[in-house]
Amino acid sequence: MKQLRTVIVFACLGMACCHICLITPRQRGTMDISMPGSPTCTRHAEPCGGQDIETPKVTYMAGESAFFKWQQNLNHYESGYPGYMDIGIARSENSTDFTTLAVVTDKYVHRQDYQQNFTVVVKIPSIMCDHCVVRMRYNAHKPGETTFLQCADIKISLGSKSHDGLKFSQNHEESRADKQKLWPLNRALRLRKLHQKLQKDDDTENAMKLYGIAYNPFEPQRSHYISIDTMSGQTEMVNSFKFGIDAPGTGNNTKMFLLDEVLSIDYGRNTTNFLVHETGSRDDVAKRLYVVGTYNGSLVQYTDLFQFSGGAINGLSWYTYGTSAAFRIQPAETANNWYFEVGMLVDGGYKMAARIPKPEGLYVNFQWFETDVNNYHRTYTLMGNENAPDELNARIYIFDIYDSIFSKFVKYTELDVSKYTFMSMHSYPGSDELYAFSPGLWFDDPHAWYLVAINPMSGEVTKKCDIAPPGIFQRYYGGTVNQGSTNHGGYLYHVLRVDGSDADLIVKIHPGTCQMTFSEPTNLRHIHSLQMPAM
Ligand SMILES: *[C@@H]1O[C@H](CO)[C@@H](O)[C@H](O)[C@H]1NC(C)=O
Ligand SMILES: *[C@@H]1O[C@H](CO)[C@@H](O)[C@H](O)[C@H]1NC(C)=O
Ligand SMILES: *[C@@H]1O[C@H](CO)[C@@H](O)[C@H](O)[C@H]1NC(C)=O
Ligand SMILES: *[C@@H]1O[C@H](CO)[C@@H](O)[C@H](O)[C@H]1NC(C)=O
Ligand SMILES: *[C@@H]1O[C@H](CO)[C@@H](O)[C@H](O)[C@H]1NC(C)=O
Repeated sequence: MKQLRTVIVFACLGMACCHICLITPRQRGTMDISMPGSPTCTRHAEPCGGQDIETPKVTYMAGESAFFKWQQNLNHYESGYPGYMDIGIARSENSTDFTTLAVVTDKYVHRQDYQQNFTVVVKIPSIMCDHCVVRMRYNAHKPGETTFLQCADIKISLGSKSHDGLKFSQNHEESRADKQKLWPLNRALRLRKLHQKLQKDDDTENAMKLYGIAYNPFEPQRSHYISIDTMSGQTEMVNSFKFGIDAPGTGNNTKMFLLDEVLSIDYGRNTTNFLVHETGSRDDVAKRLYVVGTYNGSLVQYTDLFQFSGGAINGLSWYTYGTSAAFRIQPAETANNWYFEVGMLVDGGYKMAARIPKPEGLYVNFQWFETDVNNYHRTYTLMGNENAPDELNARIYIFDIYDSIFSKFVKYTELDVSKYTFMSMHSYPGSDELYAFSPGLWFDDPHAWYLVAINPMSGEVTKKCDIAPPGIFQRYYGGTVNQGSTNHGGYLYHVLRVDGSDADLIVKIHPGTCQMTFSEPTNLRHIHSLQMPAM
């Protein structure tokens, strides 16, 4: 047996194949996951691994959350250039027009001879279909490797959607390791239920929409502008654009990419401004401004930045009708020193407003840029200390740019990061303090999640609300939702990643009352530049 296994593994390595089997919903054709290197997990033919179309044997409810599960039957993790897997759905048996439901990046495991199950939560689209096709792909990025494919045939019916969403049912054959991996998700679902119960009856849970840009590494030159329902977590495609987010590798398509998290929402015009790197070497700064209808995703304006030279724009934040505040880091005359500057971006024209008087060499890690939504005078830039990767020491640089003549750098504040660390922050109507989502300290193990208040003038950071106890969500510093200038109902939003799984929950929290709700589990790992426009 041992002998046989070795032979199979070698045969496959020689062919440079990667291995994957789709367990739930069950893949077309035969499936044997009893050993690594199984030929039934080794299928390459487009679009569905060369297996015959089958009659659907499983029915999902439109709009429901479901567990999809697959096995990586041999591991082909490529250090420094990890691969990815995705799940998509097409609306008829012969369609090859797959809409992405989830993207998962390859996990680092040393051994190739290794079986690993993956479970993701997917949102079944709100459609009816007698024969839809679920497709799973794995591209390991190994030299010589070709994409691996499996498909499953399913039905979707318009049943009454169970409000509870995901049923945490477990398969009897599940291994112990499999079950343990799902514990944090189980706890997350209980936390969600708890807060649902705590909601007052008259407090109707209004689902709002977040917007973002979805990226699929299988289509590195295309991104989708999408909406995300804050209750169900379901995503819907609004429009698509011909740029990637960060296409790895070389080739023509690598030149067009979106600057992740660099955006401003213009509430005067209902547009969102993005910066895209369109031409030139990857080292050239991004110079193309995309102005997109916040709710409809249409391209409203598309222009090159002008009156602009030098360093990249690191951060954008809405300032006033048609105008965004912009933050840049400009090289100083002396090596390894930089000027921080804030300027105005008006219809693509950039104008510097103020900069720090003395160049800085240490607090040079840009983290977040925010306009004060209470006075529209001030901007706050969160800058991390280059030499404190674990302490996450940081400062807030304050500029006043209200008056174009008297614009000035006000001061910087050293933050108290002895209890709470964070990498983004939100100005909030009616509050002198900024708010941030924090997993405590970088070393805290296990770590809980909090909402904290930051006094930008004194640097004091205090706990405002407990969000989640330890053992549920990853200590991941992304997940920020750009909240712009107003907060519908006073809520702040953030995306939390569940430990040990690829599920995400959107948390919505009121800093005044600490009242919060969590969305149903979803998968938003491939969604970038999230924003919550005010309605
Ligand atoms: C799908 O393609 C197969 C093979 O070409 C064909 O037999 C079948 O009729 C097609 N189904 C539909 C619904 O077009
Ligand atoms: C993967 O899941 C299957 C059942 O769906 C189970 O039989 C198998 O033991 C699991 N494998 C691992 C490595 O957890
Ligand atoms: C890629 O770039 C080369 C050189 O600029 C050009 O000739 C070619 O047409 C491009 N290919 C595509 C698919 O755009
Ligand atoms: C922006 O959108 C909101 C919500 O749909 C709407 O109430 C408002 O009138 C819009 N403003 C403009 C300038 O279109
Ligand atoms: C989309 O929304 C923007 C901003 O509100 C608006 O200017 C534009 O006309 C809209 N486009 C379409 C096609 O509705």
